[in-house]
Amino acid sequence: MESGKYIIVTGGAGFIGSHTVVSLLESGYSPIIIDDFRNSKKFILDRLEEITGKSIVSFDFDCSNQEKLREVFSTYEVHGIIHFAADKAVGESVLKPLKYYENNLQSLVSMLKISEEFSVTKFVFSSSCTVYGEPDQVPVDENAPIKYTASPYGYTKQVCERICADTAYASDHLRITLLRYFNPIGAHPSGLIGELPLGVPNNLVPFVTQTAIGIRQELTVFGDDYPTTDGTCIRDYIHVCDLADAHVRALESNSDEEVSIYNVGTGVGSTVLEVVNTFEEVNGVKVKHKIGPRREGDAAQVYADNKKITEALHWKAKYTLSDALKHAWNWQKNLDESR
Ligand code: WQD
Repeated sequence: MESGKYIIVTGGAGFIGSHTVVSLLESGYSPIIIDDFRNSKKFILDRLEEITGKSIVSFDFDCSNQEKLREVFSTYEVHGIIHFAADKAVGESVLKPLKYYENNLQSLVSMLKISEEFSVTKFVFSSSCTVYGEPDQVPVDENAPIKYTASPYGYTKQVCERICADTAYASDHLRITLLRYFNPIGAHPSGLIGELPLGVPNNLVPFVTQTAIGIRQELTVFGDDYPTTDGTCIRDYIHVCDLADAHVRALESNSDEEVSIYNVGTGVGSTVLEVVNTFEEVNGVKVKHKIGPRREGDAAQVYADNKKITEALHWKAKYTLSDALKHAWNWQKNLDESR
């Protein structure tokens, strides 16, 4: 049995997973990637080795496959698990709910079963602020009610949080941390890894970078009649590298709580037009955009109260919105060249 600070990272070749692998390596851990590459590309593995100068163990299979999981857990003494693997497109989940319920729930159940079988103590689950639905007040703290969320994707996150909690309370060793991400954006400063949206991006920042580089004709701003400073929605945009670091902090927590829940956001809200204007200013490039109708299901304002993670895990966002938009643009330009 190979011993070392092995951390299983499911979905480790994905957007947040790959950046977390870098943070893990920089913190002395040995990440083991399990990814079936349905929503990521193999070249990211080479990029990770280029960034870190280290070779990384990776396996190409669906983490719902318990037989294959058993082989990995029998070979490596696993110190902890970070479970990212899931489908995450809000719009697609409305069109294909069973794909989301099957994959997102089944992969989590498999990972929890294997962690019980091999007595793994530390388990970090990738959750989302979407569990709050449209919050009653902002900033949102962890005591905010879990409300009805229109998307099956968002509902899988609520159900998965409950599966994690029930499993942890029934276990005599499992300690689970639920990280509720706000809006992850940006890319590694090297420009070697970043967001790889498949098809037309649903999220704002990749649509902005693809419009700026000419892949998309024009950005539509979904509504400017919200009760905010400029009428466009407010979100908490967090640099993906800061989000990655929060996972390492969660692994290092010695909390005795069966379940710990943390919002992972900057605590700062930015409107859509502030994002567009900041992107144009910091990168010296125009983003053609127009105001269109509201998008169904959008909340007017969602941004984090992040006091809990700051105090308990001594985590703080290092990067600003400007940094994230600079790094996102750098990544888009590199991507275009390597197409
Ligand atoms: C942000 C703002 C849009 C695109 C979702 C999921 C959340 C997480 C992050 C997975 C909104 C506006 C967007 C565009 C626009 N995903 N917008 N034009 O909806 O806050 O969160 O992604 O973990 O779980 O819910 O992010 O980037 O889609 O939208 O005006 O072309 O940008 O209306 O106000 P969202 P987003």
